Amino acid sequence: MPTYNFSSGPAMWPRPVLHQIGAELLDFQGTGVSIIELSHRTSAFGEVMDTAVRLFRELTGLPEHYHVLFVHGGARMQFSAVPLNLIGRSPRRLSCHVETDYFSLRAREEAGRYGPTEVLASSAGTGFDRIPPVNHEACPPDAAYVHITSNNTVYGTRWAEMPVGFPVPVVADATSDLMSRQLDLARCGIVYAGFQKNLGPSSLALVVVREDLLGHALSETPHLLDYGVYARTGSLSNTPNIFAIYVMSLMMRWIADQGGLAAVEVLNTTKAGLLYSALDRSSLYVPTALHDHRSMANVTFRLRDESLVPAFLARSEDQGLLALRGHFSAGGLRASLYNGMPLEGVEALVGFMEEFERCGG
Ligand SMILES: Cc1ncc(COP(=O)(O)O)c(C=O)c1O
Repeated sequence: MPTYNFSSGPAMWPRPVLHQIGAELLDFQGTGVSIIELSHRTSAFGEVMDTAVRLFRELTGLPEHYHVLFVHGGARMQFSAVPLNLIGRSPRRLSCHVETDYFSLRAREEAGRYGPTEVLASSAGTGFDRIPPVNHEACPPDAAYVHITSNNTVYGTRWAEMPVGFPVPVVADATSDLMSRQLDLARCGIVYAGFQKNLGPSSLALVVVREDLLGHALSETPHLLDYGVYARTGSLSNTPNIFAIYVMSLMMRWIADQGGLAAVEVLNTTKAGLLYSALDRSSLYVPTALHDHRSMANVTFRLRDESLVPAFLARSEDQGLLALRGHFSAGGLRASLYNGMPLEGVEALVGFMEEFERCGG
């Protein structure tokens, strides 16, 4: 029986990527050493890094005046790095935020350690079931940036597209949707993503920064949180996560092999559509995000009879359908359908859910 991992992250990877890692782990491309034994100063690793960045640029159509950085510490480290690098642009160190999820709250909380923050819009009042309307004019022009979360991993909502119209640069946390759909990154000043959904293993972040936003770091910014340092040194100021960057190069190649981001987006939309249709026609399952705000990456729902949740989780695990419990802060159930989740996994989940409902739980 195949196993399908619906975890929100670390998440399921495409099988061909795992097979290639397995095949190359003991001897990386005839070097006689493993990729994880290779110095970050070798030309072999340099090629790996160049490939990861080049394919990322090609797949996203990223303009030349954006830098691509590999920054330590995952996405939450950027909750600190972003204000440290940007609030110096604002005379009153102000950052603005759109609150849409657990992680956007954490991002604002962290920015609040370095300066005042302002909430331009929030969906907290409706249980984070939507992306709230934002009045761009409410954004003070002397703010350093406005922070959004393009896909909300916990509550299963997403921005339809990257926003335009703010008087200050947009900073987007795209941890759970980068490389799963076409996004116009050039609408943003900074886009960042933790690796563990569609890029590779956790604890590293990909950070895309527009050239003019470098060089504003507060003087007390730690060396290894200063995006300018990463840009100057090609992310090699100290030893980066070699393995993560290698995996990213394979993930980018896999996306290219699928036909690029447009093709990957079609498949991801089909996968999510299959599951949402099942939820919409059921009288047991209740989707939690408003229809037009639904995430394609994280499908959140609950059971009308919540006492059935333990049985649902136990039986789904027995069927090889893993990690369907919702985030601890939101409760309920969640199926994460990143690039590595094949269509057959979603079909198996829908089949199980329909059977569970038919049998009365
Ligand atoms: C949207 C979003 N932001 C931030 C994070 C935190 O990522 P990390 O654990 O890499 O710090 C996550 C983790 O799932 C996330 O989904």
